[in-house]
Amino acid sequence: QPKDIAVIVGSLRKESINRKVAVALQALAPAGLALDIVEIGHLPLYNQDYDDDSPQSYVDFRRRIAAADAVLFVTPEHNRSMPAAMKNAVDIGSRPYSKSVWNGKPAGVISASPSMQGGFGANHHLRQSLVCLNLYCMPNPETYLGQAERLFDPAGQPTETARALLQNFIGAYAKWVAGFKAP
Ligand code: FNR
Repeated sequence: QPKDIAVIVGSLRKESINRKVAVALQALAPAGLALDIVEIGHLPLYNQDYDDDSPQSYVDFRRRIAAADAVLFVTPEHNRSMPAAMKNAVDIGSRPYSKSVWNGKPAGVISASPSMQGGFGANHHLRQSLVCLNLYCMPNPETYLGQAERLFDPAGQPTETARALLQNFIGAYAKWVAGFKAP
């Protein structure tokens, strides 16, 4: 039975580099992992008033995350932080208070950007939230994919360089998830 990995992509656009990263990771993942992209673009902005009576989309999202063995965040950088859509999903999963569906799960973060920095700022802002939510985020290999549009050919397939980087990341992530025991 492969580990069920909920993959969250922080970009909503069709030609997203980060979605290409997620799709490439699905193909490159070892047999022990099944990566499923969980959509977040339809989730209304988090509002605490919904905690008692949540929209169905929140209920379904929380159920999907709760059922997963682990989470993998694939994030672009917007203004040196994670995109609002990503933060919205993180917040929705974290509430109602004490009912967070993130609690105690292993996780990983990978970021991609056309800039040289590879979304470093977003990657680490996201990690800050994951600490608060008691998600156990793989520390290494840190993977900030810079000039990332060059990592895919026109058909969306990863180049050889990309393949090596992504293989290294997802191999380590598979070990992180397989060996994970909640303290
Ligand atoms: C960006 N972009 C960007 N890039 C970056 O490296 N650091 C940044 O702070 C920002 N800020 C930023 C803000 C906003 C509002 C937008 C729309 C874009 C550029 C961004 O990396 C680029 O659009 C990527 O292609 C987004 O990722 P996807 O959609 O390709 O996955």
